[in-house]
Amino acid sequence: MYHETGGSDVLNRAKFFFSIVTVGLCLAAGTAWAQRPLPQSPQAAQAHQQVQDPWWKHAVIYEIYPRSFQDSNGDGVGDINGITSRLDYLRDLGIDAIWISPMYPSPLVDFGYDISDYTAIDPLYGTLADFDRLVSEAKLRNIRVIMDFVPNHTSDQHPWFKESRSSRTNPKRDWYIWRDGQRMGQPPNNWQSWFGHSAWKLDPTTNQYYYHHFYTEQPDLNWRNPQVRKAMYDAMRFWLDRGVAGFRIDAVSRLFEEPNLHDDPILPGKNAYGDPNIAHKYTDNLPEVHEVLREMRKVANQYPGNPVLISEADEPNIAELTKMYGAKDDEIQLPMDFQIADVNKLSAPDFRRLLNEIDRNAAGGQPHYFFSNHDQPRQWDRYGDGVHNDQITKLMAALLLTTRATPLMYYGEEIGMRTTEPARKEDVQDPIGKIGWPEEKGRDGERTPMQWDASTNAGFSTAQHPWLPVPPSAAKYDVKAESQDPSSILSFYKRVLALRRSEPALRDGRYLPLNEEDPYVLAFLRRKAGKDDAILVVLNMSAEARTVKFDLAANGVKESSAKPLIAAPEIGPESAQLAHFTVPAFGVFIGSVH
Ligand code: GLC
Repeated sequence: MYHETGGSDVLNRAKFFFSIVTVGLCLAAGTAWAQRPLPQSPQAAQAHQQVQDPWWKHAVIYEIYPRSFQDSNGDGVGDINGITSRLDYLRDLGIDAIWISPMYPSPLVDFGYDISDYTAIDPLYGTLADFDRLVSEAKLRNIRVIMDFVPNHTSDQHPWFKESRSSRTNPKRDWYIWRDGQRMGQPPNNWQSWFGHSAWKLDPTTNQYYYHHFYTEQPDLNWRNPQVRKAMYDAMRFWLDRGVAGFRIDAVSRLFEEPNLHDDPILPGKNAYGDPNIAHKYTDNLPEVHEVLREMRKVANQYPGNPVLISEADEPNIAELTKMYGAKDDEIQLPMDFQIADVNKLSAPDFRRLLNEIDRNAAGGQPHYFFSNHDQPRQWDRYGDGVHNDQITKLMAALLLTTRATPLMYYGEEIGMRTTEPARKEDVQDPIGKIGWPEEKGRDGERTPMQWDASTNAGFSTAQHPWLPVPPSAAKYDVKAESQDPSSILSFYKRVLALRRSEPALRDGRYLPLNEEDPYVLAFLRRKAGKDDAILVVLNMSAEARTVKFDLAANGVKESSAKPLIAAPEIGPESAQLAHFTVPAFGVFIGSVH
């Protein structure tokens, strides 16, 4: 559907959410290790080995939007015990870690991204005991749990903000960004919220404005205040002490604002909220962000098991994305690559260029790819052409799961869930949709309940009305039905995930692009250093069958054919000739070569 409209608004909206972070790959880990004594005991030697080859380089991570995964108590909203009850499914799917969107106490203005207590669980989702049980049950299945961490802003109901707003002399006044307005009741400057309109809100109690990059109910913390930093690092420690495997760090490029309050440059045109377009020059990616990322990395490095830091990173180019790994690989290990997520069309040249760039990034950082999340319209319709969406969704799955990157999946993509936007304004839950209707319908469409089976509410909840309706597509796409169909999207995901796990070349071999001038077919090899055999991946990104020729002698391949391992549409077991290789429309071929 996004293709038909040109998709601009919905797709541009996708670029709003994001931030930054950076990976500190082998080198980063090596640097951290270098500060410690050399390993002496076998245990220490084993720990050293882990640092050199951290788990997150080989993991497949799966995002769970907790409100929508599984409701265990019939209130229409998903919860922690619901997630625990589905761990066997996740293990059988073949993922290694789950990132769970925020479950902290929250007034839920931004559905949990407005936090009123960083070290507790909202009763809507369960208790800390439920959380501990989730972590230990997940561990039994070799699944790690990654928390969402929201450092840029709190809820306006957080006790810190309540204190801060109470008087100009309150000790917590400086924990947030307070400024006087300009004359004639004007806000301090022209900065805009990502969620529409001025980023300043006048608070009558003290007659000053506070800054909020997102909703008015999400006041920004002042990261120049050392007490704020300490409180937030303590919150990270609270969860690391409970055994979490790391954090996805929200909106981290927005942590700092230019202190002299220069107006942002105005750009031509208006945005979906009717405001003039501006460049967020003075509130985005300020250099101090990296100082904080280094400090966060140090907190994580104090814990065993190589905790990972993942970040939102809607960086405009590879140079900016590379910075997120840290000048000494000492910041974020996995910055989410929004450039690849937002190609938004099936273009072999565009994907090839971006894959090459990130593969060769100057920091040597681990790439981190995804196509869908709780802020992005789902990939089934974003990349689908309206006719071949199921096949194209397999193509995108193959792309996500066969490169060198650490893949990040979003719940439901493995069964072909689609974006289902609300039909009427009164049905909208996401405040962005309420502010921006009808041009901006909000993010409800990508947050609908998981489709488990053919029972009431697709097995998500026994409530009469789940918090968002189950989409009509649940009649055809659900876990149970697809588990029984070897040609389903789910079966395809499972096969590729299993192959990624069992084939060392796919798990952590090098990425070698092939036929780099081909306008339609994206092809590459994955190969372990010093090994003869390799995996050949061929992805036809066009609506017509394409015949290509591979000359792999320079890559050390002696044989003239490739043995199929997985193909979609399915093909027979006969080897494919490298000199005359035909791939059907939107076809996927994954095979082995020697
Ligand atoms: C991030 C989250 C998004 C949220 C915003 C404000 O972009 O992914 O869902 O609304 O931050 O916290």
